[in-house]
Amino acid sequence: MTQDEQKKLVAREAIKYIVEDSYLGVGTGSTTNFFIDELARANKRLRGAVASSIQTAERLRSCGIPVVELTAVDELPVYIDGADETTAHGAMIKGGGGALTREKIVAAVARKFVCIVDQSKLVGVLGKYPLPVEVIPMARGHVAHELVKLGGQPMLREHFLTDNGNIVLDVEELRILNPADLEAKINNIAGTVTNGLFARRGADVILVGTDNGVQTLDAHKF
Ligand code: A5P
Repeated sequence: MTQDEQKKLVAREAIKYIVEDSYLGVGTGSTTNFFIDELARANKRLRGAVASSIQTAERLRSCGIPVVELTAVDELPVYIDGADETTAHGAMIKGGGGALTREKIVAAVARKFVCIVDQSKLVGVLGKYPLPVEVIPMARGHVAHELVKLGGQPMLREHFLTDNGNIVLDVEELRILNPADLEAKINNIAGTVTNGLFARRGADVILVGTDNGVQTLDAHKF
């Protein structure tokens, strides 16, 4: 099975987690795009969707799904999003598409985070995928310097600004043994908006697309 076929499998499976007559949080990226396609076909009763990026909001609208601002939502039972890497415990690296800050905000509000990934994203230790860090432009040098002190090799993401008008540093060479600790340390560097570690608020359920179908991991069981 190709990676895209595995993504489609989990996108379809995620439909089962939708709570009808409520709002739904929708992430960003190619796996989430497959989910939006499924959502458009699924005929579910939704009050609206909260998008984690401008790109997702546009795609939702083009599929006829109403988009609402997070500020207008009283509660968000479920958030569905992909990841660049995830452990079976639900700690993730996200932000390959640069939407990490809005993703983290929507995930923080949601009661349940359903992570949808193809098999290549499931890892034992996070850090092979470069960790994205969203940074206020004037703090670029300072944040990069502090990231080096933490053992990383930050690289500026060229020709890229986030939806919030900030730059992204992609940090290589990290072997992340304590993701919750590193998440807090990086967020404490002045000028950091947020980083792509989602460990303090990780996934609750991970749907992994494999050649043998969807593997469902309950992050709280590990
Ligand atoms: C977007 O900023 C990311 O957090 C995505 O969720 C992540 O990069 C996964 O994207 P794909 O589904 O395209 O691999």
